[in-house]
Amino acid sequence: MNVVVIYGSYRQERLGIRAALFALAKIREQGHQVELVDAMAYDLPMLDKMYKEFEPGQAPERMERLHKTLEQADGFVIVSGEYNHSIPPGLKNLLDTFQTEYYFKPSAIISYSVGSFGGVRVADHLRAVLAELGMPVIPSSLPIPRLHEVFDKDGKLIDQAYNRRFDRMLSEFQWYMEAFSWRRKQGTPY
Ligand SMILES: Cc1cc2nc3c(=O)[nH]c(=O)nc-3n(C[C@H](O)[C@H](O)[C@H](O)COP(=O)(O)O)c2cc1C
Repeated sequence: MNVVVIYGSYRQERLGIRAALFALAKIREQGHQVELVDAMAYDLPMLDKMYKEFEPGQAPERMERLHKTLEQADGFVIVSGEYNHSIPPGLKNLLDTFQTEYYFKPSAIISYSVGSFGGVRVADHLRAVLAELGMPVIPSSLPIPRLHEVFDKDGKLIDQAYNRRFDRMLSEFQWYMEAFSWRRKQGTPY
């Protein structure tokens, strides 16, 4: 499968990149194609026109590149911190810029925080947003409380329990990606 991991923090001191790189490595380990979409690296403009509103060939080059990456994906893993119980602005801006690229593909949520709740509240908000974007969220999610104690400064996993937790979520996600991919090949309603 072709998996896209989306991470959206713009903070200079951001911690969640450790979880995003962990997800990337774990997905690759299972033999999937995987790409990290780091919103800060793409640095899309604050939403004015969505990608689909540009005339063909007129979208900024980085938006065009991102469109192709999202279009080719079989599923999306969203790695998100919790900002005031909700979605970081850079992540929301990137998600909102696109639409049909996500349709009929499943998504999975990895949420985290430095506190003890692991971003479960942002995960709830994300479920609603991702459903609206046409990428239904699988039942399992991976909340990571106290992220700074789960990975060290170099991003190395300290708490090995997350290997098992991630593998469980990935096996479920893989099932959904394969099922949706098979069904997309027979056609989609729109
Ligand atoms: C604007 C802002 C709001 C935050 N709100 C919450 C919150 O509602 N719940 C929480 O558990 N942590 C909250 N935090 C702390 C984050 O969990 C912590 O800063 C985390 O490292 C953010 O992810 P990032 O480093 O990838 O940007 C907030 C942080 C910021 C910058």
